[in-house]
Amino acid sequence: MFVDRIILKDFRNYEALDIGLKDGFNVFCGNNGQGKTNILEAVFFCAIGRSFRYGKDADLVRNGSDAFQIGLSIGDDVTDDIRISYKNTSPSGNSGAGGNYGEKSVRVNGLYLRKLGHLMGNLLSVIFSPEDLEIVNEGPSVRRKLLDIVISQLSPDHYFDLQQYLKTVSQKNALLRDYDRMGQGARELLDVYNEQAADTGSRITFRRWVFSRELEKYAAEKNLSISRGEALSFKYYSNFYTFPEENDHETGTGNEDGTEPGAEGLRETGADAASAETVTAETIKKDFLLLLNSRRSKEIERGHSLYGPQYDDLLIFLNGTDLKRFGSQGQKRTAVLSIKLAETELLYRRTGRRPVLLLDDVFSELDEGRSSLLLDSAGGFQTLITTANLSELPPEVRRSAKIFFVKSGRIS
Ligand SMILES: Nc1ncnc2c1ncn2[C@@H]1O[C@H](COP(=O)(O)OP(=O)(O)OP(=O)(O)O)[C@@H](O)[C@H]1O
Ligand SMILES: [Mg+2]
Repeated sequence: MFVDRIILKDFRNYEALDIGLKDGFNVFCGNNGQGKTNILEAVFFCAIGRSFRYGKDADLVRNGSDAFQIGLSIGDDVTDDIRISYKNTSPSGNSGAGGNYGEKSVRVNGLYLRKLGHLMGNLLSVIFSPEDLEIVNEGPSVRRKLLDIVISQLSPDHYFDLQQYLKTVSQKNALLRDYDRMGQGARELLDVYNEQAADTGSRITFRRWVFSRELEKYAAEKNLSISRGEALSFKYYSNFYTFPEENDHETGTGNEDGTEPGAEGLRETGADAASAETVTAETIKKDFLLLLNSRRSKEIERGHSLYGPQYDDLLIFLNGTDLKRFGSQGQKRTAVLSIKLAETELLYRRTGRRPVLLLDDVFSELDEGRSSLLLDSAGGFQTLITTANLSELPPEVRRSAKIFFVKSGRIS
């Protein structure tokens, strides 16, 4: 697929914009703070229904206005057209003071969606940005988000399960906070919440585990070729389920010896590890429920949920050692680029549809070898690139790209 046309109204610093893109390289060039990333943000908003940055929906409304619209025409795909509009209904103006008060409406191919989750998978897109280093350097929530976004694009059920799970956990936490004052019904209610949490939670963890194994295969391959021989590997860690140790990767790439220090000390449960083939969402659910029941008094004592996919992590290793603690800056960059390229390849292979690549200021950070690998991998996919400096771009990009000059929310 490719984005044929972008229409914005009162989005960030764009009062009104209507541009046509080409299938291939599109470059947005301009000084800092002019609105280059805002374009990528608008496109990615149509993939996941929210900003990839920290912005709340209300922050995306142009100052002085109370609503924004994004429209994308899509070529070469079953999705023809995505329109999103957001209207601020907060009394305090568009600062959104502490929350999202707006109304969002989404149309795909002219039809209104009843739920935002149904947007997932209509536009397949991967964003590369300098902040991607957070995947290695920051806490587990960044890595869970990485997995959840791609998995939701591939199967919207994952998005709905996440929503439902979060709701259950917040209800369960409210109960645990007040458990002693809840009287007779508390025990039964906790059973209900535990059953619900185990149901959706096990599916979430199962999908992430399956996906991370597949992602590892492709990411390890990319990393091996950029680094000329360093082995990238992952381990999906859950605080309520013990996944089997895997020495036998199907591809034969990755961690041959299976030594992955760092993971063991974190383990909470003592359940016997099954072999990978026997793990299903059902087996995870069974163990999860057993654990929730056996640790019931501990959760009541602490007054909140202690187990579940909200604590899971994707551990990242290079040559068998923890990348975050021991990796160099360059090794981390390479790993992160490999992960993003793997994500792109997986989206494409699983769906047969070409994802749209969004490269936010990435070439300035990459040396020649990595740039050319990125370009090779981007071949055949539509790519939107932002840069403050055209000369940073590889010559083959400059030669064939459609170039837009961005200045204060206007494009020429
Ligand atoms: N809600 C908003 N209303 C109006 N302007 C906004 C809003 N949100 C952000 N901006 C403006 O958008 C600009 C930032 O846009 P963007 O992040 O796309 O910049 P950029 O061109 O990518 O810059 P850089 O090269 O520094 O990354 C800033 O000037 C900021 O003031
Ligand atoms: Mg930017």
